[in-house]
Amino acid sequence: MNCLSPSILSADFSKLGEEIKTVDEAGAQYIHIDVMDGSFVPSISFGMPVIRSIRKCTDKIFDVHLMIDEPIRYIDELVDCGADLITVHAESCKHLDRTIEAIKERGIIAGVALNPATPLTAIEHILEKVDMVLIMTVNPGFGGQKLIPYTIDKVRQLKKMVQERKLKLDIEVDGGVNLSNVETLMDAGANIIVAGSAVFGGDAEENTRCFLNLINGG
Ligand code: DX5
Ligand code: ZN
Repeated sequence: MNCLSPSILSADFSKLGEEIKTVDEAGAQYIHIDVMDGSFVPSISFGMPVIRSIRKCTDKIFDVHLMIDEPIRYIDELVDCGADLITVHAESCKHLDRTIEAIKERGIIAGVALNPATPLTAIEHILEKVDMVLIMTVNPGFGGQKLIPYTIDKVRQLKKMVQERKLKLDIEVDGGVNLSNVETLMDAGANIIVAGSAVFGGDAEENTRCFLNLINGG
């Protein structure tokens, strides 16, 4: 299934609850929640208290993207805060397999993310174990960047690997996605679309509807 996951990193935090309700009511299926620690990525965003608090605003899938060192330390607490899907970076885990197992043990959806320059071979052995692969289409850390073109071919290669192995997993793209490039990314094989500034940078309701039109083939 094709889904939109608006990234609240670009939302107006002074009215975060309203912003989430807007994209929820406009039809977005996921809410993308970027957690940054100032170490794995240069910036710091927000953490558990915010996630726990916004859980009250929507029943949509909380798609938590952890850009933090050794994310295994926080899996349990994040699930308790309401995470439905946790994605960890292959680059940030000393023991990626163990970290994925820790997510799955809590009965939620497990994702693994790759930075633009990290090859797909980094995840070839755990592909059978994850529900989703997130291909970063910018270097993680900030919203509003421009998509790095070579990452589109990486999505294509991943899709091929998934088909060859007859796996059923979602491919998410994150970073610099907008209404002009989303169809190219979907043609390459992506089916979960993260968009931050392209949703919250203007009329979030209208932008969500426009994305959903394209995502649903309209
Ligand atoms: C970047 C984050 C993204 C970011 C996307 O490190 O992982 O989710 O919010 O923002 P845009 O869509 O503006 O590139
Ligand atoms: Zn993200």
